[in-house]
Amino acid sequence: MRRVRRTAAVAAALTIGGLLVPAAPAALAAPHPVAPTPVLAPAPALAAPDIPVANVKAHLSQLQSIASSNGGNRAHGRAGYKASLDYVKGKLDAAGFTTTVQQFTSSGATGYNLIADWPGGDTGQTVMAGSHLDSVTSGPGINDNGSGSAAVLETALAVSREQFKPAKHLRFAWWGAEELGLVGSKYYVNNLPSSERSKISGYLNFDMIGSPNPGYFVYDDNTALEKVFKDYYAGLNIPTEIETEGDGRSDHAPFKNVGIAVGGLFSGADYTKTSAQAQKWGGTAGQPFDRCYHSSCDTTANINDTALDRNSDAIAYAIWNLAAGSTTPPGGVFENTDDVAVPDNGAAVTSTVNVTGRTGNAPSNLKVDVDIRHTWRGDLVVDLLAPDGTAFRLKNSSSNDSADDVIASYTVNASAKAANGAWKLRVQDVAAQDTGYINSWKLTF
Ligand code: TRP
Ligand code: ZN
Ligand code: CA
Repeated sequence: MRRVRRTAAVAAALTIGGLLVPAAPAALAAPHPVAPTPVLAPAPALAAPDIPVANVKAHLSQLQSIASSNGGNRAHGRAGYKASLDYVKGKLDAAGFTTTVQQFTSSGATGYNLIADWPGGDTGQTVMAGSHLDSVTSGPGINDNGSGSAAVLETALAVSREQFKPAKHLRFAWWGAEELGLVGSKYYVNNLPSSERSKISGYLNFDMIGSPNPGYFVYDDNTALEKVFKDYYAGLNIPTEIETEGDGRSDHAPFKNVGIAVGGLFSGADYTKTSAQAQKWGGTAGQPFDRCYHSSCDTTANINDTALDRNSDAIAYAIWNLAAGSTTPPGGVFENTDDVAVPDNGAAVTSTVNVTGRTGNAPSNLKVDVDIRHTWRGDLVVDLLAPDGTAFRLKNSSSNDSADDVIASYTVNASAKAANGAWKLRVQDVAAQDTGYINSWKLTF
C-alpha cells in the first residue's frame, strides 16, 4: 500500500557542474558526520581527475626561472631549452614513466624531443599527447608554450598518481624547435617506421592554452577528437569555436600529414578578440588573445589562470576517455549477501566486503552494485566507505521518492584508495514509517 506522507525537511541535493553535491545534512540527526564526498557518479561516467592548476602553475614558475637564469629564453640551441627538458624529464622519471630523449640537429645546434611512455596498455592503440617545449629567443615562452608543456606534464603526473591502467597505451611528448618550423615533431614522425605510425590512434596537441585574453578553440581536424573536447566544454556550459588561427601552425601538422588523427586546444595568439567573442568568453574585445605573443613579456604574468585550469582539466578528460576503452573489468568481484536490517529513522548500519589479493589502488571506475529492499527508498542515504573510512556518497535521501528498493549500480572514483581492505556499504534511514534491509551488495574491480 502506498501512502502519501510527510514533507519533512530532508537535505536536498544540488547539482554543480554535473556532479551531485549533497547539501549540508542539517535536518539529519546523523550519528556520525558524513565526510565530504570525493566523487559521486551514479552514471557510468569515466572519472577523469581534476588537474590542480596550482601544480601546473608551479611548473610554469620553474620554466620561468630556467629562462631567467639562461639569458631570458628557452629557445632551441640555448641552455634554457635543455634545462627545461631536464626539468620535465626528472618529474616523469620519478613518476615511473619510461622516458626517451631523441636528438636531432637544426640550424647547427642539437635539438631534443622528450618522449614518455606510461607502461602498459595496448601499444597497438597508442593515444599520444604533446606540446612544444621550446620558446622563441625573444622571451621566456610561458604561454607559448610553457602552458601546454606544463599542463601535459601535470596530466602525465596525474596518470601516475592515480596509477591509471588504461586499455590503450599512453605516450606523452615534448617537442624541440617548434618555433623553427615544427622541426622536432617532424623529425619524430619522419623517423617513425610506418608500422609504428599505424599504432598511433590519435595525437593531441596543446600549444598556447593559457592566453591572457583567452578564447576557447578546439581543433576540428578529426570529428571524434573534436567531440571529446566539445563534450568537456559543453559540460562546463562554455561555448567553443573551431581553431582557425593558422591551420598547421603547430606540431599536430606532421602527424596529420601522415594520416594520423589529430586534435587539440588553443586559447589564441596574436589575432584580435572580437566583441562577439568577448561577450561569450569575457576578456577584452579589440585586443589580441595574447598581446605578448613571441615577446619578452610572455612571462608567468602572461597567463589567464581560468583558461589554464579549464584546458588542463580538458586534457585529462580527453586522455581518460580516449584511453579507457575497455568495458570489461579485469576481474575481481567481492560480494556480501548477508541481510542487514536498516532501523527506521535510526542509526546507520553497515555491511562489509573484504577485498584481498589486489595490488595497488582501487580503480577510478570502481563499480558498486547495491541491492537494498525498502518500502520507501527516499528515506535512505547510502555511502560506500573505503578501508580508511572515507565516504563516497552513492545516494542522498529525497522526501518525495516513494518508490521501493534501491537496486542500482554506481561508479566511484576510488583511485586514491588502496584496493585491499574492509570496504563498507553504509545505509541510514532518515525518516519515519517505512523500513527495509540490505539484501546484498558487491564491488567489481
Ligand atoms: N606556436 C605557434 C606559432 O608560433 C602558435 C600558434 C599560432 C598556434 N597559431 C596557432 C598554435 C594555431 C596552434 C594553432 O605559430
Ligand atoms: Zn607555440
Ligand atoms: Ca523510514
